[in-house]
Amino acid sequence: MTRKRALTGYRPTGKLHLGHWFGNLQNMLTMQNEYDAFYFIADWHALTSDWADTTRVREFTEEMVLDWCAAGLDPARCTIYRQSDVPEVAELALYFSMVTPMSWLERVPSYKEQREQVTDKDLGNLGFFMYPLLQAADITIVLADVVPVGEDQLPHLELTREIVRRFNNAYGEYLVEPAALIAKQGARVPGTDGRKMSKSYGNSIFISDSPDEITAKVRGMITDPARKLKTDPGDPDICPLHQIHKLVSPDPADIAEWDRCCRSAECGCVAHKQKMATDLVEYLAEFRARREELAARPGFAWEVLEAGAAKARPVTSEVVETCRRLVRIDNNG
Ligand code: TRP
Repeated sequence: MTRKRALTGYRPTGKLHLGHWFGNLQNMLTMQNEYDAFYFIADWHALTSDWADTTRVREFTEEMVLDWCAAGLDPARCTIYRQSDVPEVAELALYFSMVTPMSWLERVPSYKEQREQVTDKDLGNLGFFMYPLLQAADITIVLADVVPVGEDQLPHLELTREIVRRFNNAYGEYLVEPAALIAKQGARVPGTDGRKMSKSYGNSIFISDSPDEITAKVRGMITDPARKLKTDPGDPDICPLHQIHKLVSPDPADIAEWDRCCRSAECGCVAHKQKMATDLVEYLAEFRARREELAARPGFAWEVLEAGAAKARPVTSEVVETCRRLVRIDNNG
């Protein structure tokens, strides 16, 4: 029985944080056992917004492979590769650009939003405009059935299906319409300031942070904003510290006790921060040890990517050759 194919990608724009860990990454870990899973680093996508400063793309690519593998993605069970090592993606994107009306890209919500909100970068380039088109090619180049992503990616998945339908209509039913798969647990992880954890907010705890960095960040966390004094009763349900503690504590009874003593103002936030930092450091201990071990192996990440590209390319070559034939950009009659 052949397994269904899953694919997802991350832009190499920095280290992974707890939001990634409890969101998409847990899904990716499960899926490598149940699917023919393709996980790739979208380095061309990083260029679309950061073309003017590409100094850290390589470094971030390497960090991402280390984070992934230390977290448990296993290059023997899934295919880990770098987008730019599979140039077939670019050729498919070119064919897609022929069948895709510009108006479809203009109405993508993330495009409109970012053009309005991002002021420190020039996003008037063609590459950024076709970001979702390139994403459609990433997904389709392996004929992926499912794409594990966050909810913010749903419009991109819908656009991918529309492009696939248009291509199939024009040239013959071949490409697969992918389905999005949103994380089941879908834990929304708050950042240190209480907003959603996001690299661009500067409120992230990275999974590769050292114990000292973790402790310092946790000490600076927002708690229940209405709880000004230790003698005020607190509300753990709106406390970001408590939300993260619930995810990382080894002991539900301990969580229940912090919940109780916060509500009754018997314990203070300083003590809770110390305990949560200790639990978080411990929770990530195994990951941290594995990551250090992998980082100490010279060339590890690049070897993983090279082997992954070698596994991906038979698939992507076949798909792109079939597309060429369907578009009649070949010489076979
Ligand atoms: N757009 C995705 C993000 O920002 C990254 C991405 C690029 C992707 N190509 C993809 C995700 C293909 C899933 C499938 O997170």
